[in-house]
Amino acid sequence: MNNQIQVTKIKEYVFNLFNEDATGHDFYHMERVAKTAKEIAEIEQADTFITETAAWLHDVGDHKLFKNPDETKEKLNVFLRKIGVSDQQVLAIERAIKDVSFSKGANPETLEGKIVQDADRLDALGAIGIARTFAFGGSKGRPIHTNDDQRLHLSSIQHFYDKLLLLKDLMNTSAARAIAQDRHDFMESFLDQFYVEWNVK
Ligand code: ADP
Ligand code: NI
Repeated sequence: MNNQIQVTKIKEYVFNLFNEDATGHDFYHMERVAKTAKEIAEIEQADTFITETAAWLHDVGDHKLFKNPDETKEKLNVFLRKIGVSDQQVLAIERAIKDVSFSKGANPETLEGKIVQDADRLDALGAIGIARTFAFGGSKGRPIHTNDDQRLHLSSIQHFYDKLLLLKDLMNTSAARAIAQDRHDFMESFLDQFYVEWNVK
């Protein structure tokens, strides 16, 4: 099976796993991360097949999203072998997707892993990032924002300060850094407008 057909099979696999997600980790998140990662891989001269594949699969087996992460990852390993991805490529893909998550504070060792991490983080920024934040918060029963200091740490607005506004300085590649700056500025304007409307007299 050639790489193109393998990527098509991988897309189908990802579609079946994430089609019904409503926490901001839906199929379209995987698609955007795959597209962005592939673009950055070309600029950075990384292995585009490993980068794109790892990007499609980066949330498979995430502990937040799957009841049995180990079993999910094992099934993925079997699937990749079944479609003819070589042992060496499977290892490279698994290494690239391991610990890309900001919440785990990971520092990927390979260029491909760094690029997937950047692409995933870029999708947490800008207009899409804002939409995903409130979708994720809503799915966990979190308030949008609150005037109650005791509950503020639970709110989706607080997540901007805990994580999202820090991401632009954590990008691994310069291509991602440039995109992140634009999206960061957009979030700052969003927050300015949000407080104007929240504090309406
Ligand atoms: P990853 O696991 O890829 O590092 P997360 O799963 O933490 O990233 O984040 C995925 C999406 O969910 C992001 O858009 C992020 O902003 C949102 N999110 C994560 N944690 C929270 C939270 N506590 N409140 C609101 N949104 C959150
Ligand atoms: Ni992701």
